[in-house]
Amino acid sequence: MPLRDDEHWVLSYYRTSEINGSLFFGRLARVLKPGPIQHDLTKHFADEAQHVWYWTDCLDRLGTRPIRLSDAYQDQYLEAAGLPVNMMEILAITLTFERRVINQYAKHMAVPNLRPRSKRRSTSSWTTRSGL
Ligand SMILES: [Fe+2]
Repeated sequence: MPLRDDEHWVLSYYRTSEINGSLFFGRLARVLKPGPIQHDLTKHFADEAQHVWYWTDCLDRLGTRPIRLSDAYQDQYLEAAGLPVNMMEILAITLTFERRVINQYAKHMAVPNLRPRSKRRSTSSWTTRSGL
């Protein structure tokens, strides 16, 4: 059974959002002075990059390629909340954001008739992460 258009779009949207997260934290880690926060952010953008790979692999296993999307979850978030003005706001938004993402993936997993591969990808790795 081929992937429905809406499923294809949602999985691609998750992937695009992970790309945005990785790039954002990669840029942030690059400009911060070396120290504990930079160290943690380096791990965080590496995790986000791995999540991109998971979604890319998920789509590949479902027999398709990601849709190239211009917008991601972070764009909606920034539009609603505005740009964070300091590191504390970035970390607070990130914590909130990460919790919401995991919650979103859990809701996705609960969708009836979801394909096993996308269900597995929605829950693995993210639920075992620690830190940011
Ligand atoms: Fe992620």
